[in-house]
Amino acid sequence: MSEHMIKRLTVPNMIAKKNKEPIVSLTAYTVSVAQIIDPYVDLILVGDSLGMVVYGLDTTLAVTVEMMIEHGKAVMRGSKRACVTIDLPFASYQASPQQAFQTAARILQETGAAAVKLEGGEEMAKTVEFLTKRGIPVCGHVGLMPQTVKTMGGFKVVGRNPLQIEKVIRDSHAIAKAGAFAIVLEGVIESVAKTITEQLSIPTIGIGASSVCDGQVLVCDDIFGVFQGFKPKFVKRYAQIGETMKDAVQLYASEVKSRKFPSAEYYFEK
Ligand code: KIV
Repeated sequence: MSEHMIKRLTVPNMIAKKNKEPIVSLTAYTVSVAQIIDPYVDLILVGDSLGMVVYGLDTTLAVTVEMMIEHGKAVMRGSKRACVTIDLPFASYQASPQQAFQTAARILQETGAAAVKLEGGEEMAKTVEFLTKRGIPVCGHVGLMPQTVKTMGGFKVVGRNPLQIEKVIRDSHAIAKAGAFAIVLEGVIESVAKTITEQLSIPTIGIGASSVCDGQVLVCDDIFGVFQGFKPKFVKRYAQIGETMKDAVQLYASEVKSRKFPSAEYYFEK
């Protein structure tokens, strides 16, 4: 198929994968990473994790709508095939369904992405319904929700006590019933992820929620071994690109100092 004939995967394509084949998803924030991963993934998430991964913030709370839009545009430019979904950042949607609509509509209009993702359970169900009924596809996100880090007192695994188990199951049902096309389960123990995945008719996409989910998502810099910060248990490093980059820059520095670089092939004599 020629490049021009590649059709983007759609939100209905994601839903259709339930009980058929796992959804492969990764985050991306830049053109070059989007170009590299696009042929291999179904869903690219422009996650607000970019606040920590790209900008070095301690949490995602200071990420702005403008950041999400600029990185969303870059990822759309770098991809042709994947269904691109963009996170609504903290404080851009929680105040009211109307606020969520304004933010989500702006993000979709300015980037051309397929959908938005938002964090929250029962308390966000009305908002999810408001958006989906007005033409905005929404991916939910329950369990460990990084935007609630201040009330949760840190990034903690969910499902280790009966109250938490009941809550995350209720949250998932509420978001699915409200019309979400998929739901991210983050940091949820395997047995609970299994119950939710079996009970919902929409796909679950796990991150630290075991292989029972209908798909998996990870942060791109984590799988590449580029991110230099904390590595959670659920991150598998598929490469050590950070080490390769260090080797490259060390060699570059030594060649510049010894004047080995640039050799004749890298400059213009006339
Ligand atoms: O912000 C993000 O990257 C996410 C994924 C890790 C699920 O929400």
